[in-house]
Parts: sequence; structure tokens; C-alpha cells
Amino acid sequence: MEEANKSVVSEFIFQGFCTSKELQIFLFLPFSTIYLMTFVGNLFVVVVILTDHHLHSPMYFLLANLSFVDFCLSSVTTPKLTTDLLQDSKTISFGGCMIQILGVHFLGGAEMVILVTMGYDRYVAICKPLHYSSIMDRQKCIGLIWVSWIIGFLHSIIQVVIILGLPFCGPRVVDSFFCDIPLVMKLACVDTDTLTIVINSNSGIYATTSFILLMISYTYILLTVLLYSKNGASKALSTCTSHITVVVLFFGPCIFIYLWAVNITWVDKFLAVFYTIITPVLNPAIYTLRNNEIKNAITRLGRGLSGRSLA
Ligand SMILES: *[C@@H]1O[C@H](CO)[C@@H](O)[C@H](O)[C@H]1NC(C)=O
Repeated sequence: MEEANKSVVSEFIFQGFCTSKELQIFLFLPFSTIYLMTFVGNLFVVVVILTDHHLHSPMYFLLANLSFVDFCLSSVTTPKLTTDLLQDSKTISFGGCMIQILGVHFLGGAEMVILVTMGYDRYVAICKPLHYSSIMDRQKCIGLIWVSWIIGFLHSIIQVVIILGLPFCGPRVVDSFFCDIPLVMKLACVDTDTLTIVINSNSGIYATTSFILLMISYTYILLTVLLYSKNGASKALSTCTSHITVVVLFFGPCIFIYLWAVNITWVDKFLAVFYTIITPVLNPAIYTLRNNEIKNAITRLGRGLSGRSLA
């Protein structure tokens, strides 16, 4: 009997940021600008690192991979939400919604492992400089990148398979600007309260563990720098502070949304902007473009290009 009146949901409707049409039109310009900057900035970093053979060390491969992941991560949500700002009805197909969930958790999960690996890489470089080349060799770097993809894949596919097993038959309105697990699970026509807690704590615990590992490496780095290096201290301090800022902006909202799954959706929406839109644009600026080696590489690249066009 239950089966009989079950109609299958083929698309979802996003509520978007706010109800005001004027505000949404106004937000179109800043959001498209941020996306353009994310796109150009991250691809530029990848190109500079891959083309300059001075930058073929583990740290730069990790940075290039981080930029690549950031570029993909913001492409999963930002173009859709930006064009939706100008649309009256913001719909997404059921498949599109599942792809967003898969994409955000796959790339977000991989990004967390890459950030932890980068924290570990800096810890080894600063606290165990004499052993650096034996601890972080190319092989290990490639291995760690693979681990990040595998963890991201497992983390996301398990959740999507669980959601695909749920019946969706009635409500279709997702009160956000992209499909995220807690909001979509709320729409299933079965009681998902317990399942939601289990799934959310999966993401929450994963984010918290990565965050703690990162904080441990940064604490070691800061202590080492403060205790043993007089002249490099202020530079290392400012680098570490900016890294820690990005880490807090990325992990803070994730941990908050998944572990303290409160029902204040405007807070969730506001926080989701940070890990889907703001960190991908900040990462190249903070991790890469402040780095002197990269600045030199950009100069070399510029010289190479102008040399070639003159010839
Ligand atoms: C990611 O890292 C691997 C291994 O270190 C490297 O070979 C590859 O070129 C990197 N990928 C990108 C897009 O930078």
C-alpha cells in the first residue's frame, strides 16, 4: 500500500541564499568574480609548478595538487549557484544533486588529506631538516597523493550509496544553494534521524581528526622556529599564521556543520560559503603566491614567454 502512492522525485529545488531578488542580482557580480579568480589563480599555479623544473620537489607537487583540487571543488558548486542567482526557479536534477554530493565530499575529502600531508611536509622540513630528503622523497609524495584520492573516493561513495538507497517521494526543496548531505537526507520519506547522525559524524570526525593533526604539526613548527631560529622566526611565523587561517576557515565550518548539526540554516548557508567558495580562492594566494620560489618562477615564465614572442 505504501508503494502505491510513492512518486519518485526527479529534481530538487534550491531555496538559494535569500528571498530578495535584488540582493541576489547584486551578489551575481562578486560571486562570478570570485569564481573567475579561483579558476585563473589555481590553474596558473598548476601551470607554473608543472612547467618549471626548479619546482619539482614534494612541496610544490603538493601545492599543485591542492590547487587542482581547489579548482575542481569550486567548479562543483560555484558556477551553478552563481547562474542560479539570476534564475527564478533554481532546480537541479536528482542525478545532478548526487553528483554534487559526490564531488564535494570526494574533493573535500582529498583536500583534507593533502592539507595534512602539506602540514607534515613542512614539519619534516623545519623540524627534521637533515632527514628531509630521506623522509619526503618523490615516491612517498606520489603515494600520499594516491592515498588522498582513495580516501576521498571511499568517503564520498559510501555516503552517496546510502542516500541512493533512500526513498524520495515528497518534499523537494533544499534550503541551500547546493546539495549537501544533511539537507538532502531531510527530504527522504523515511525517518532518517539516526542515519543522519551517523553520516554526519563520519564527515565531522574525519574533519576533526585532520584538523587536530594539522594543529599538532603547526604547533611543533612554531615551537621549533621560536626556540631555534632567531632571524627566520618572523617570516616563518607569518607563513604559519596565514596557513593556520586558511585551515581554520576550511575546517571550522565543516566541523561546525557536521558535528553540531544545528537547525539554523542561515548559519549553515553562510558557513558553507567558506569551504566551497572562499578557501579555494584563498589557497593559491596564501600558500603559493607569497612564496619567493614561486615568484621567481613566475618571473622566469614571464621572461620565457616575452623572449619567445620577441624571437
Ligand atoms: C600531483 O602530484 C603528483 C605526485 O607528486 C605529480 O606527479 C602530479 O603532477 C601532481 N598533479 C598536479 C595536477 O599538479
